[in-house]
Amino acid sequence: MSRMAASHFCGIASRVIATGRNFTVALSGGRTPESLFNLLSTPAYSSKVDWTRVEFFWGDERCVPPEHTDSNFRSAHEAFLKKVRPIVHRIQGEMEPKEAARKYEAELREVFGTDALPTFDLAIQGIGEDGHTASLFPGAKALQETKRLAVAVYVRKLKSWRVTLTVPVLCNSQNVLFMVSGRKKSEVLKEIFSGEEPEKYPAGRVRSNCGETVWLLDEAAARGFFYKSGKKETS
Ligand code: 6PG
Repeated sequence: MSRMAASHFCGIASRVIATGRNFTVALSGGRTPESLFNLLSTPAYSSKVDWTRVEFFWGDERCVPPEHTDSNFRSAHEAFLKKVRPIVHRIQGEMEPKEAARKYEAELREVFGTDALPTFDLAIQGIGEDGHTASLFPGAKALQETKRLAVAVYVRKLKSWRVTLTVPVLCNSQNVLFMVSGRKKSEVLKEIFSGEEPEKYPAGRVRSNCGETVWLLDEAAARGFFYKSGKKETS
């Protein structure tokens, strides 16, 4: 799955940079993308990209300092950013959450222009077992946000503050790539792909409105609806 994600990343990066623009990508946090990050740091992939033309953003960040083990920035920085040295637009998790969201939003407007919605060339998303993506959790007020680009959210069940991009921004990405790994995610995937109300889940609301949405699943995550009683069904 991560090798496919790395090839997808490098393919889009090359196409965008060849047009003369910088490649803008919003990374997800969590554990799933770590193997992608490690792959991108290997010469087989890192040699395919002109990293001076890549601008990294985050779909969300925990409100912790950048050196904290929970920091999404730290995870990507340690795995590959410190090696490939691209342009980085970090969500400043060390700041007061609402201030950090305002600052990140201002930086987005500076990079993408003030009036339009930012259009990431690629937004990499994960999904929680409850169907959250970025730090947009089921039932959160932030899911209704249509004006702000980034907001601070208090996640009750995690007893922690986060900063997250909003649904309109994520959906305005030219390419959305969901990476989902592990059996524990198969139930929510089944709900999103074959349930009655996919939009009940934040991840079910995020799809590119101007380009392509790709879901990369490993076998364990796909088991819920491609495999029944252990044998592969063609579907
Ligand atoms: C975060 C992520 C979050 C993550 C999911 C899946 O900051 O935690 O942005 O949305 O993608 O929780 O996390 P795992 O990949 O660790 O399962």
